[in-house]
Amino acid sequence: MDTLPLFLHLDDQPCVVVGGGAVAARKVEALARAGARITVVAPRIGPAIADLEADGRLRVERRPFADQDVRGALLAIAATGDREVNGRVYAACRASGVLVNTVDDPSLCTVTFPAIVDRGPVTVAVSTGGSAPALARYLREKIEQFIPSGTERLARFLGARRADINLAAADGRARRRLWDRILDGPIPDLLESGREEAAEEALGRLVESPAETTGLVSLVGAGPGDPDLLTIKAMHTLQRADIVYYDNLVSPAVLDRCRRDAERVYVGKRARLAGSRSTRQAEINELLLAGAREGLRVVRLKGGDPFVFGRGGEEIETLHERGIAFEVVPGITAALGCAAYAGIPLTHRDWAQSVRFVTGHVTGGEVNLDWPELARPGQTLVVYMGLAGLTQLTARLIEHGMAPETPAATVSRGTLPDQAVVTADLATLAEEVARARLPGPTTTIVGRVVALRDRFGPGTGE
Ligand SMILES: C[S@@+](CC[C@H](N)C(=O)[O-])C[C@H]1O[C@@H](n2cnc3c(N)ncnc32)[C@H](O)[C@@H]1O
Repeated sequence: MDTLPLFLHLDDQPCVVVGGGAVAARKVEALARAGARITVVAPRIGPAIADLEADGRLRVERRPFADQDVRGALLAIAATGDREVNGRVYAACRASGVLVNTVDDPSLCTVTFPAIVDRGPVTVAVSTGGSAPALARYLREKIEQFIPSGTERLARFLGARRADINLAAADGRARRRLWDRILDGPIPDLLESGREEAAEEALGRLVESPAETTGLVSLVGAGPGDPDLLTIKAMHTLQRADIVYYDNLVSPAVLDRCRRDAERVYVGKRARLAGSRSTRQAEINELLLAGAREGLRVVRLKGGDPFVFGRGGEEIETLHERGIAFEVVPGITAALGCAAYAGIPLTHRDWAQSVRFVTGHVTGGEVNLDWPELARPGQTLVVYMGLAGLTQLTARLIEHGMAPETPAATVSRGTLPDQAVVTADLATLAEEVARARLPGPTTTIVGRVVALRDRFGPGTGE
């Protein structure tokens, strides 16, 4: 964050605009909407400012700028189009501690104007710190589409009842959840359709019974790493979490999408949990239960999809046995993310009519899979957790009849900015991957579709 976003209360506060043309007029309009007491300093003024002067909404000093004009002002705007004059305004403001904005010149600003979405008391401001105002406007348009038209009415309705709502909840956490329930429930829609009385009744019911008795555990698929691959539902759930238990495969960029105040607890392999795989899992299960019993919104954030080699099944089994409410939010599994970002279609009607996801995990020195099945033609194999056993895996497939020249690829850190892909034939893949020293996690794809990467992969388009 390069700048600190703040909202200025300008009601009857002295503000100075230096310049009298169309650009100055736009800034004057914005200040006037916020209720500022405005003085314009300019030898000549255009029609827009003259009209505002005639309406008594500002005072005009028809003369060149002088340093003392900014004294006592909260904010000054230099909008003269003359860099020398603007520079003097900036210097005068710095000398007397006045906030200053110079139009189209970030080097002469202590504050910049954001692009705003204005819905009455609700204001959304987007800033690029003055570096790319067009980008700020573009983002503002995107955001605008997500803000319902009834937001202003909702804000005024809730604002008038805020004290009563806060009194109904015992502490900060309970209060936040009560507000979430208000916003998640029917009240926004009732207001949007003009049914204020029904909204009032719904609010009354929530305020009378503000406490949720049990929490909710959400098993959320974090996808393979690129945060833009999170589903909208996953984003929504992360934004409401009280506590997030995450493991190794969750990228920092995905974690950044959690609610700022949510507690984040690492429970991956390096966590200080009890030793073996099963006790570790039992301990994670207990943590999820404890959170839910406290009435929290608990998120168990797992790489990829929780139900694909993710032990999600075991976690919901425990929650179900103990009567804890849970939900599963699917995620993009590594196979799909890696294939898409490496340009490998997993099926293709000429080359592969089915696709198999298998684990290449080594147990007791062996990769135990149904080799004759896997070696059959006409399918694509996607091997998870296959790095350590790659030599054995490729050798077994060849032993069981798969052609040594079958195309294969290993995708390292798929969908992340440092994704790397090694392609080879089945006979040489393990050797090539070892030579490239690919970091984990990796996913290996075997099948004739891999050859299509040369046609469809990144950098092969027109
Ligand atoms: C325990 S499994 C979890 C799979 C996860 N639930 C999913 O649906 O993707 C871990 C394996 O997923 C694969 N994997 C996860 N993220 C990956 C990524 N960004 N790039 C490549 N492989 C990945 C690797 O094969 C890794 O060893």
